[in-house]
Amino acid sequence: MDSITGSAQPPLFDRLDEQKPDALLQLIALAEADTRPEKIDVGVGVYRDAAGGTPILRAVKAAERRLWERQETKAYLGSQGDPRFTALIRPIVFGESLAADERIVGLQTPGGCGALRLGADLIHKANPKARIHVGQPTWPNHGPLIECAGVEMVPYPYYDRDARRILFDRMAAALNAADAGDLILLHGCCHNPTGADLSADEWREVADIVARRGLIPYVDIAYQGLGNGLDADAAGTRLVVEAAEQALIAQSCDKNFGVYRERVGNLFVKAASRATAEKVFANLMQLSRTMWSMPPDHGAAVCRIVLDTPELRADWNAELKEMCARIRTLRARLAAYDERLAYIASQNGMFSMLPLTPGQVLALREEKGIYMAGSGRFNVVGLSDDNVDRFAAAVVEKMDG
Ligand code: LMR
Repeated sequence: MDSITGSAQPPLFDRLDEQKPDALLQLIALAEADTRPEKIDVGVGVYRDAAGGTPILRAVKAAERRLWERQETKAYLGSQGDPRFTALIRPIVFGESLAADERIVGLQTPGGCGALRLGADLIHKANPKARIHVGQPTWPNHGPLIECAGVEMVPYPYYDRDARRILFDRMAAALNAADAGDLILLHGCCHNPTGADLSADEWREVADIVARRGLIPYVDIAYQGLGNGLDADAAGTRLVVEAAEQALIAQSCDKNFGVYRERVGNLFVKAASRATAEKVFANLMQLSRTMWSMPPDHGAAVCRIVLDTPELRADWNAELKEMCARIRTLRARLAAYDERLAYIASQNGMFSMLPLTPGQVLALREEKGIYMAGSGRFNVVGLSDDNVDRFAAAVVEKMDG
């Protein structure tokens, strides 16, 4: 047979830049490959129980069983995902009264990341020149997700790691200097990577600046319920959304339902009028269709069943409270170990940051098998009852130099 001849293909993929692996996700693999039995993985944000495992929540397992028994079709839903699931999450995030605001529309997304990316795409589509002010430090994937969509990022100071405090005056000054129509990225609760959340007074001041300056809040709320309870953790979000005519809220169930790999979240958008909200929703549907067509169903269906079934919902609430209490206990133990760790007790959620250099972080990994992010961020609840003191001792030893 004659061989097929033609012109040589110009190289396509050779043009690609080299890429470094995602540092947080790489930590999972590095820790797993470490064979030392005493290793401590406080890298990625995954809840661990006292025995060091991440079991599926009872309520989630029970809902999965029901889903398996009762689901009769796998036919397509649509780009909005499961509307009942989104409707059930809505009052959890906004509270009953704000949830009734018809200027807020929402749809299911593949996790909080999907929501963040979809929101960024919506912003860019509405205004290719839009800018978003982003507190420093922030979750390392915020930048790539937002910039991928073409939205310009402007940093504002948020937290001084070495002084272990929020730089609220500098944050407020930056927001006061922002232009009307600029977006501001805010962490709803359990700030990632610092654990340092705004106080109620600070949230009120931010809400006031938002209203006065005509800023558009973009709230990332991925850890609701793991700080101080579901309502308390959403109080700041509710304040700024109420204060603003327009807002975006990226929500995740991955942590508070423990369904990480299922990718379960929602994007909510508040528009200035009901008619504009309808247009926003239509645009979100179109953007979703071009990115993932429709979000994966399983995890959202499971969360929906939990929330729609009173006994499962009560059990989920109890389990969430247990997780929250465990985080508080671990924080208190670390804080009690050394006064330089005392600040950890007053922070929230899975993360806090240690004032360690990248070299010290690497030395902890090599010498003690302790895996944390190079920034000094560690997952408090990656610790077990047996290793929390050993971890604190190793950290303090490094701080002593
Ligand atoms: C984390 O920050 O550890 C989590 O949000 C996991 C992730 O996707 O980075």
